[in-house]
Amino acid sequence: MALTSGDVDLDAFTELLTPRGRRALAEAGELTGADPVVAATTLRKTYDAGLTSAALTQAGLRQRARAKFGADAGRMFFTPHGLEQSTRAEVAEHRARRLLALHGGAPRVVDACCGIGGDLLALARAGCTVSAVDTDPLTVAVARANAEALGLADRVTVSVADAAEVRPENYDVLFADPARRTGRGRTFDPMAYSPPWPVVLGLISRAGLACLKVAPGLPYEFIPERAEAEWISYKGEVKEATLWTGQGGGRRATLLPGGHTLTAAGVRAPVGPPGRYVYEPDGAAIRAHLVGEVAELVGGRLLDPMIAYVTADAPATTPWAAGYEVEDVLPFSLKKLRAALRERQIGNVTIKKRGSAVDIERLRTDLRLSGPNSLVVILTRILDKPSVILCKDLSPARITESGHPYDNRDLSIQP
Ligand SMILES: C[S@@+](CC[C@H](N)C(=O)[O-])C[C@H]1O[C@@H](n2cnc3c(N)ncnc32)[C@H](O)[C@@H]1O
Repeated sequence: MALTSGDVDLDAFTELLTPRGRRALAEAGELTGADPVVAATTLRKTYDAGLTSAALTQAGLRQRARAKFGADAGRMFFTPHGLEQSTRAEVAEHRARRLLALHGGAPRVVDACCGIGGDLLALARAGCTVSAVDTDPLTVAVARANAEALGLADRVTVSVADAAEVRPENYDVLFADPARRTGRGRTFDPMAYSPPWPVVLGLISRAGLACLKVAPGLPYEFIPERAEAEWISYKGEVKEATLWTGQGGGRRATLLPGGHTLTAAGVRAPVGPPGRYVYEPDGAAIRAHLVGEVAELVGGRLLDPMIAYVTADAPATTPWAAGYEVEDVLPFSLKKLRAALRERQIGNVTIKKRGSAVDIERLRTDLRLSGPNSLVVILTRILDKPSVILCKDLSPARITESGHPYDNRDLSIQP
C-alpha cells in the first residue's frame, strides 16, 4: 500500500524527483492558475494519470507555500500536512539566528521531528550541521528533497526514526517541533503532542542547549523550570512560542519581521484613570506577561489591574502596542453608546474588547450605525466597571494574513 500524507503518496513523490517527473512538475508550474481540467488535459498528452496528478498537486502546494517560504517555495516540495505544520521562513530564520548567537560557531543540531524541513533548512542555512529524523517516510523523502533543492544537502542528513531513538548527548543542540495534530485535528493538550511531551522532556534533559517549538497557548505550568519562554508574533499575530533550555530562564516576546525583542524585568505597572491615549500591547507581550514592561515603554498605567489595556497622557511611538487617541469614555450602556455614535455620525466602527462579555456582532447590529465617519469602540472594564472608550486609531491599519488589522508603525530591526 502506498504511504500517503494528504494528497501525496511516496511512490508518486519518488517519481516526481526523476528527470521526467521534474519536467512534468515544471510544466504543471507553468499551468498554475489555469482551469484545472485544461491543466490536467494538457499534461495528460505527455504523462500518465499518476504523474499528472502528482505534478499538479505539487505545483498547487508550491503556490500555497509562497506565503510561508517566499521564492524558495518554487524549488521546494511539500505534502499538505507538512506545509500546514511547517514553520514560516522568517520565524525559523529568527530562531536559527538566536541559536547561533547563543551557541556560537557552527553547532551540530539534531532535529527530533523535522517534518518537511522548515526549521532544519533555516538552521542549515544559518551554518548549523543538522541531523534530522521523522517517523513518516514520505515526510523524510520530502525533507531530503528540500535540502537538495536548496543546496544544503552537504549539511543535512534526514532519516526515518522515532524521536525516542535520538541521542541528544551526541549533538550541541536539540531542536524539536512536535506535531500538534491528532487523528481528530489540532490539539491544544501538550500530552497529546507527537512525539509525546514526556519523550520531549526526556530529550531536553539530556541536551546541552535545547530549543522547542510549542503552541503559543501552552499552559504556563508546562514550561520546564529554568527554560526561557519566547512568544513570537509575525505581523501582529502571535504564531508560536519557543522554549529554550540550557541558557537561562525568563520570559521574552519577539516581534517579526522587525526583530524587536522585550524581556521580563518584573515591572508592575500602576493603575489609573483613562488618559488621552490607550495602547493595546502586541499579543506576544501579553502572552509573555510583559504588559507592565509595555506600559513602562509608553509611560503609561493600566486601566484595570487584570486587563491588558494601557493608558497614557502623552503620545508614544512603539512597535509594542497599537495606539488610540481617546475621544470619550462612557459607562457601558447600549442606549448611551448608540446616542454617542449617532451624534458623531459614525457609520463604521472597529469594536475591540478585553474583559467584556458583550457579543460584538450582536452589538454591531443593535447599534444601527449610519453616517460617513469611523471610530474605534473599546469595550472593557475600568476599575471593574464595564466601560466603553471611543477613540481614533493612531496607526493606519494594515491587514494580516488572516484579515485582521495590525499596527503599522516602523518595524525596523533594532540592534
Ligand atoms: C510540526 S511537524 C515539524 C515541522 C517542522 N519543524 C517544519 O518547520 O517543517 C512535526 C513532525 O513530527 C513528526 N513526528 C510525530 N511523532 C514523531 C515521533 N514520535 N518521532 C519523530 N517524528 C515524529 C510528524 O511526522 C511531523 O512531520
